Parts: sequence; C-alpha cells; structure tokens
Amino acid sequence: MRKKIVAGNWKMNYDLAETEMFLVELKKQVFPENVTIMIAPAFTNLNHCFKSLREHPVELVAQNMHQSEDGAFTGEISAKMLKSVGTKYVILGHSERRAFFAEDNAILAEKVNSAIENELTVLFCVGEELKDRKDGNYFEVIKEQLEEGIFHVSETAWERIIIAYEPVWAIGTGETATPQQAQEMHEFIRKTIAENYSKTIAESVSILYGGSVKPDNAAEIFGQKDVDGGLIGGASLNVESFMKIVNAFE
Ligand code: G3P
Repeated sequence: MRKKIVAGNWKMNYDLAETEMFLVELKKQVFPENVTIMIAPAFTNLNHCFKSLREHPVELVAQNMHQSEDGAFTGEISAKMLKSVGTKYVILGHSERRAFFAEDNAILAEKVNSAIENELTVLFCVGEELKDRKDGNYFEVIKEQLEEGIFHVSETAWERIIIAYEPVWAIGTGETATPQQAQEMHEFIRKTIAENYSKTIAESVSILYGGSVKPDNAAEIFGQKDVDGGLIGGASLNVESFMKIVNAFE
C-alpha cells in the first residue's frame, strides 16, 4: 500500500556506542502518525536497535542480504538472520552495491526473490550515472534496472516492494535532483510499472527519492505528485536533520 516513508540509510557509519547515542535522541522525538519512519543501521547494530526501539514506531531496514538461505558464504547474512532481529525491510540494488560489489541485475533479482520468500519488504534502488543523465538515456537505464531486477515478481509480491530512485550523480554530492527531475522520473517509474503490471499496482507502490535530500530541500521534493518520501544518507545520521526531513511533508 502506498504510504509516506522516510528511511535513513546509515551506510557504514556508527558503532554500537554511537548508535546508542543516536537512539537516545531519536526516542525523545514526537513522530508524525502519517509517515513511516525507518533506519538502516549496520548489521552489527540491528539487534540492539530492535530491542531499544520496541516501544517506538521506527522500522528497521537491512542495508543488504545474501540471496541464499544459508551455507558456505563467509561474511554474508541471510534474510532469515535479518528477520530474527526484527528486520522487516531490506535495501537492494543500491548504487554502491552495484558499483563496489559487482551486484548486477541478475544477482539482484535473486536477492529480491529471497527477500520476498522470507516476507521482507524490499527497498529496490534504481538510478542512472551522470553520463547517462548527460547523454539523455536515463529513462532507458532505469527501465532496464526495473525490467531485469524486479519485473519478474508476481503481482502479489508488489505488496512487499518499495522503489527508491537514487540518481547516482546526486548521492553524497550535494547535487540534489530538482523537484521537477525527481517528479519526471518517478512518474516514468510509475508508468512503467503500470505498463508491466497494472495501473492499480502502480498506484499502490511507494516511490522514494534519494540523493542529497536535506532539511532545506525535502519539502519541495516530497511535495511532488509521484514522490512518496525519501531514502536519506548523510542527513539521516543526525537526529535533528533526520526529523526535519521526516516532518517535511506538507
Ligand atoms: O541510500 C541513500 C543514499 O544513497 C543517499 O545519500 O548522502 O546523498 O543522502 P545522501
């Protein structure tokens, strides 16, 4: 079901003590009832966050997972392990996983299947490189990522899918997409889902924007017709800025 979501992707930041300092401040906040709030701490901190946030309306997100149920995959973590520490969501297809860890659409399609089979909800990331944006073929890039990474799932699986559009050239750069650029791509993503599935499914999917979302630009981006919230990196590491973004919906 389509809803307003603000998710903080902490990436490789915060050890246990720093995570606890963040949680102490986060738990003092008053949370808007109409926004689903999520944090994606490092794997090592998920269990602590799960126990600490039991009484608070904050959902836990894993930053990745392996596609296998278990086995000889040193250093990897399965969906089942994530569920055991209260994780209900998982980020898949983040540009940093695609770029630094060779996660291509085929591998991501397998990870999506495993996540859905284990009743995790997937935040599936798509986004074009700066060259694609400059060359004007960014729609084709996003369409391919959707078609090869997630358009194999069943209609019912879309109940467990959130799309995050993260133009790579906007991630960590301060070069935020304009609200118009975000809306244009979100509308294209929604239209593409409708063409491959149905208008009903397309209208039910939450599509988040990510890429240098800050307290001073969030409201205009979130106010776009097909933007349902944000996947936030740097600005999610500070409770005050994260909450300003959470409260940015008009
Ligand atoms: O997953 C969200 C992240 O890639 C965006 O990072 O620092 O540009 O908000 P940032």
